[in-house]
Amino acid sequence: MKIFVTGGAGFIGSNFIFYMLDKYDDCKIVCIDKLTYAGNLSTLSPVSENENFRFVRADICDREAMYSLFESEKPDVVINFAAETHVDRSIDSPDIFLKTNILGTAVLMDACIKYGTKRFHQVSTDEVYGDLPLDRPDLLFTEKTPLCTSSPYSGSKASADLLALAYFRTYGLPVSISRCSNNYGPYQFPEKLIPLMIANALNDKPLPVYGEGKNVRDWLYVEDHCRAVDLIIRKGRVGEVYNIGGHNEMKNIDIVRLICKELGKGEELITFVSDRKGHDLRYAIDPTKIHTELGWLPETMFKDGIRKTIKWYLENKNWWETIISGEYRSYYEKMYGDREVIK
Ligand code: NAD
Ligand code: TYD
Repeated sequence: MKIFVTGGAGFIGSNFIFYMLDKYDDCKIVCIDKLTYAGNLSTLSPVSENENFRFVRADICDREAMYSLFESEKPDVVINFAAETHVDRSIDSPDIFLKTNILGTAVLMDACIKYGTKRFHQVSTDEVYGDLPLDRPDLLFTEKTPLCTSSPYSGSKASADLLALAYFRTYGLPVSISRCSNNYGPYQFPEKLIPLMIANALNDKPLPVYGEGKNVRDWLYVEDHCRAVDLIIRKGRVGEVYNIGGHNEMKNIDIVRLICKELGKGEELITFVSDRKGHDLRYAIDPTKIHTELGWLPETMFKDGIRKTIKWYLENKNWWETIISGEYRSYYEKMYGDREVIK
């Protein structure tokens, strides 16, 4: 099987490539990545010599480049991880989110139709459902929950989902969609909550918690997500959406406290800062469908996954220190420099 993995130099895409090359001897992967600020070619160095792997630097919005790649490589399956992914950046500059996340997805699907690709899988997010109240733990997102987005990021991801379902109905393109909860694990860019707090804590810098830190996310270890996507492309039904989540809801503040504890840092580093605009309160996935249809269940408990993740960041300081010493510094200043400290 030949798979195009877009966005494979980013967090989840790279973990997916490692997972697949490790699991299957007969799986060929072509990674297509534009190498934006979030893509890092050094992440893929463990597989760069693997004969079943090829890297191509290209933009999924570039129709000509995509058509020529599809023509020469003839993939059986396309898995679209490529996206602009950070909510705070989407609030600051939505344009690139609309371009990559919506138009880029459409270009890939057009290429799939033109070259007869047998499956297009869209990697989506639970954020397309909007949020749930904090005081209703009985409510969970199912695949039937209406789309109701809060940020330009989630709006762009929901648009791509709708477009994928429209291509299924109108052109018969064999699509599938997965909507996963928040991932954590190795190689996550240090703009996201968990790696940002680990990096700041290790550097004894303030840990900026938005608002009161009461917002809840449903955390899943990245390898569990990769296993779910593999199952869906092999055994999942076309035209269907599958929610992926681990029944592991945690408040942001509890995660930050846990990171302090694991790293032996004092909680005085925690700083409450002004809240994110439109900040979603709670995400929580009901994974019944993927469990009953495909037998998927998360395998990594949060207490083990967070330890493995912290250990990885401790052992791979070079990877993230290179990132945070570059253009990330001006990003950090812009995003956090003006945030009001509440307490
Ligand atoms: P990431 O930001 O770490 O990586 C994104 C990758 O896409 C980068 O390598 C970047 O260079 C590449 N890219 C961006 N624009 C591109 C373009 N125009 N053409 C080609 N490549 C481009 O993201 P991630 O956290 O690995 O997320 C991967 C996918 O999973 C995204 O679609 C995201 O919406 C979805 N998702 C993420 C999470 C999460 O918690 N991180 C949860 C659910 C779903
Ligand atoms: P994030 O990792 O950006 O993922 P998402 O917003 O897509 O869920 O943020 C996770 C949660 O952590 C979210 O509620 C916002 C909060 N957060 C902070 O409190 N401080 C921070 O510096 C960051 C990046 C996030």
